[in-house]
Amino acid sequence: MRTPMIAGNWKLHKTKNEAFELIRTLSPATLEIDDVEIVVAPVFTVLDAVAQVLNESNIKLAAQNCYPEPFGAFTGEVSAELLKDVGCDYVIIGHSERRKIFNETDLFINKKIHSVLDADLKAILCVGETLDERENGQMFAVLKNQLTNGLANLEHRLMDKIVIAYEPVWAIGTGRTASPQQAQEIHFFLRSLINDLFGPDVSEKTRLLYGGSVKPDNIDDLMAQPDLDGALVGGASLKSEDFLRIIKFKKSNSSFS
Ligand code: PGA
Repeated sequence: MRTPMIAGNWKLHKTKNEAFELIRTLSPATLEIDDVEIVVAPVFTVLDAVAQVLNESNIKLAAQNCYPEPFGAFTGEVSAELLKDVGCDYVIIGHSERRKIFNETDLFINKKIHSVLDADLKAILCVGETLDERENGQMFAVLKNQLTNGLANLEHRLMDKIVIAYEPVWAIGTGRTASPQQAQEIHFFLRSLINDLFGPDVSEKTRLLYGGSVKPDNIDDLMAQPDLDGALVGGASLKSEDFLRIIKFKKSNSSFS
């Protein structure tokens, strides 16, 4: 069975003190949870400090981005090698904000994925369509391109280091969540694609997260869908109470029961 993952993407939020405060609440409250993988993705500047306090906890550390070269004359960039050095387990790659604001292409994203794996870290690869693409009937083609190109030239055995996050752009930070049925439709599509690319064993094992306005009041219905294996949470991961409720989603109707 796939272990569900709940990952908090803090985006450009939280000073060092605010980060400590959040982790100080989350850590003890999640110590007993062994059936959900919990991840937080703070900004680069607090990763090292947060890594120290996460040591004794059940929470794993992710970065929100990386540059695909390990070292060199790349002013202002941070590599997967250096993220490994400060104790990260995961790197989020290809978030729609990076695709849109920083013009990241599938080719660049694919290079980053390889650099993450070369550094012996794991990647959370984000894919998602815009509202225009959904309404113009391009959604499946867009998602297929993002997934196929993002995972290009990847050895099958490395797919256990990849988590996919489906984040429809129109649902991110908008309060407009995809319905559980809409999310399931896409997750089923993505799992079938992974089956075509890497075979049934890999597709059965790969975790597919949903992201886009995940909140305490919609997580249970989302997680009840058979192909949803967790969530990438933005806004609601900044408040301990909300994030904890999401981590403790009700499993009664879900495939994990
Ligand atoms: P949101 O962000 O939960 O605030 O919509 C999700 C994300 O961008 O990862």
